[in-house]
Amino acid sequence: MKVKGFLKDVGGASRVTKARLAAFARADSGPVTSDPIAEVAAAWHPGRLTLRVAQIRRASKTAKTVRFVRADGGELPYFYAGQFIALEFPLGDTVISRPYSISSAPYEARTPKGYVEITVRRSRGDGFMADYINDTLREGDTVTGTLGCGQFYFEPLRDSRRIVALAGGTGITPFASMAKEIAHGTLDVDLTVLFGSVSSDDIILKEELEACAGPHVRIVHVLSGEEPGWTGERGFLSAELIRKYSPDGASYFICGPQAMYTFLRGELKKLEVPARRVRFEVFGTPKDISRFEGFPQEEKEAVHRLTVVRGIREDVIPARASESLAVALERAGIRIETACRSGECGLCRTKVLSGRVFVCPEGDGRRAADKEFGYVHACSAYPVSDVKIKIPIL
Ligand SMILES: Cc1cc2nc3c(=O)[nH]c(=O)nc-3n(C[C@H](O)[C@H](O)[C@H](O)COP(=O)(O)OP(=O)(O)OC[C@H]3O[C@@H](n4cnc5c(N)ncnc54)[C@H](O)[C@@H]3O)c2cc1C
Ligand code: FES
Repeated sequence: MKVKGFLKDVGGASRVTKARLAAFARADSGPVTSDPIAEVAAAWHPGRLTLRVAQIRRASKTAKTVRFVRADGGELPYFYAGQFIALEFPLGDTVISRPYSISSAPYEARTPKGYVEITVRRSRGDGFMADYINDTLREGDTVTGTLGCGQFYFEPLRDSRRIVALAGGTGITPFASMAKEIAHGTLDVDLTVLFGSVSSDDIILKEELEACAGPHVRIVHVLSGEEPGWTGERGFLSAELIRKYSPDGASYFICGPQAMYTFLRGELKKLEVPARRVRFEVFGTPKDISRFEGFPQEEKEAVHRLTVVRGIREDVIPARASESLAVALERAGIRIETACRSGECGLCRTKVLSGRVFVCPEGDGRRAADKEFGYVHACSAYPVSDVKIKIPIL
C-alpha cells in the first residue's frame, strides 16, 4: 500500500467506504444459499469417501496391495506422501476402523482415473482387519475411507531435505509412497531407506521400491533372519548401521511397530541426533501393554465391567485390561470413531466418568486440559478397574 499523506489517505478511505456501502445496497437481501469457499474446501477435503476395490495383488509372501478408486468416479482428495487412510469396514451391526499408510504416490491419485493403494500384511494369528483384507476383501467391494490423515510427511520448514527412513515390515508403506513421488520428480528430497525384514523372500513391495532407486532414492535391505548366501546388511537397524548410511544433517523418519520405535529412539540417542530431527509413525498401540512401567501387573489377565454412556442410554460390556477401551467397544459392537489408533489424533476422545484407566505412556497425545478434566483417548487407554465412560452417539 502506498502512503500518500494524511488528507489524501483519509479521503481515499472514505471513497472505499462509499463503494462498499453501494455494494451492500446492490446486494441480494435473500438468504445466502451457497458458500463457494466451503464448497471448494469440501471438494478438496471431502471427509468420508466411498471407495471401490479396483485391484488386489500380492506385495510379498505375507502381504497384499489393495487399490481403491472413488466409487462415484470422482477425483481423490489431495494427500502428502507418508499420510494414511482411515478405512472403515462394516462388521455386523457396527463399523471397525483401521489406519493404513498409503503406499501409492500422491501423483498416482491426481488424475481423473486416480487411485490410492494400501499394503497390508496378514497377522500372526490374532489379527482382525489384517486377515479380513488379505482373505475376504474382493475386487468390486466398497468400503468407506478418510484420507489423507496424519503428520508423517516431509515438511520443508521442519525437516531436512536429506531423509533417512528407518522402516520395519509394513512400516515401509509411507516410504514407498515417498520414493515413488521422488522418482516421479514431484518431491524434492533425497531419501535413504534402511528397510528391516526377516527374510529375503518376504520383503514387502521389493520390486516397486527397487524401481524407484536412483540418484535421489537409495534402498538398503537389512535382514534379521539367518540366510545363507545373503550378501546385504544383516541384523537390526543399529546405531552403527544408521551412521554408515546417514548423510550429514539428515532428518530421521521411523515407521514400524512400537517395539522397533522404542529401540530406534535409543539408537538415535547414541548418535546424538537432536529430537527435532526425528519423526515417527507407530503402527498402532503395543501388543503387550503390561510391559510398560506403571501398568498394574496384577491386572494383566483381568476383565472389567465397562459402562458406556451414550446420551440417555447406558450399556455394560466386558473389557479386558490388556485391550484398549476402543477394542472393548468394537468387540461389543459399539461404534466409536478412530483414525490413528495410536493415541495421537484425538478422534476417539472419551470422558472417563469413574474408575481407573492406564494410559499408554507412548501413546498419550492428550492436551494438558484433557488430562486434568478426565478425558482419555480410547485407543490408548486400558481399563484397570470397572470403568464408566461417556462417548458420542454415532
Ligand atoms: C498410522 C498407521 C498406519 C498403518 N499402516 C499400516 C500399513 O501400511 N500396513 C499394515 O499392514 N498395517 C498398518 N497399520 C496397522 C493396521 O492399522 C492394523 O493395526 C493392522 O492391520 C492389524 O489390524 P488387526 O485388526 O488385524 O489387528 P489389531 O488392530 O491389532 O486389532 C486386533 C485386536 O482387536 C480385536 N478385535 C477388534 N475388534 C474386534 C471385534 N469386533 N471382534 C473381535 N475382536 C476384535 C482382535 O481380537 C485383536 O485382539 C498401521 C497402523 C497405524 C497406526
Ligand atoms: S484414534 Fe487417534 S487418538 Fe485414538
